Amino acid sequence: MRNVIAITAEKIGLAIEQFEFVMVSNNSKFDQWKRGEITLTDSEERGRQLFFTEFDPSGVKKGAECFHCHATFNFTNSEYMNNGLDAEADQSDPGRMNVTGNPWEKAMFKMPTLRNVAVTAPYMHDGRFSTLEEVIDHYNTGVKNSPNVDFLMQYNLQPGGLRLTTQDKQDLVAFLKTLTDMEFLSNPAFQSPF
Ligand code: HEC
Repeated sequence: MRNVIAITAEKIGLAIEQFEFVMVSNNSKFDQWKRGEITLTDSEERGRQLFFTEFDPSGVKKGAECFHCHATFNFTNSEYMNNGLDAEADQSDPGRMNVTGNPWEKAMFKMPTLRNVAVTAPYMHDGRFSTLEEVIDHYNTGVKNSPNVDFLMQYNLQPGGLRLTTQDKQDLVAFLKTLTDMEFLSNPAFQSPF
């Protein structure tokens, strides 16, 4: 008799898909602020504005220009991009080029979500930064030029980079911490069964 409940690769894939669909993080401090339920601290609010404001070369407005790439509800535009980690891409991990073979996709990596980022150190595809402060320092003055660094890194590459002060950097980190969703992180349905 034919086994109608056979375990197949397709069914495993569908089951994992179903499970992933229920993993929605939408109750962080930022989400509560968006719904008008709470206010952000001054530092978090300044960080939010830096995150969502374009860099202004005249220096009149302050902006850290994060939101074109870390875009939408999930803080990712779902693209593969090169955020200037290295001048010469690591030959052992050339990113998207490894998959497509296209040289222009060298050192492009999938845009990560920033939801719950404060609890997911270390950072970047190779875990090279252990704190959010190091990540902000990278974007401020550490971005490396290369033939395929993303155009959106043009201001980061200028002398003086994004011109963020110590206070600005603290504010950006404070904002990133508002993306932590304790309800999601402590949901028993998502804990390890082992
Ligand atoms: C050109 C697009 C782009 C811009 C602009 C950009 N990022 Fe990113 N960001 C990326 C990419 C691509 C990665 C992943 C790189 C990797 O995996 O090596 C990333 C990774 C990160 C990470 C690490 C996430 C993780 O889980 O490892 C943080 C935090 C982050 N970005 C914050 C910011 C902040 C804050 C700004 C603004 C100052 C910013 N990004 C601007 C493209 C961008």
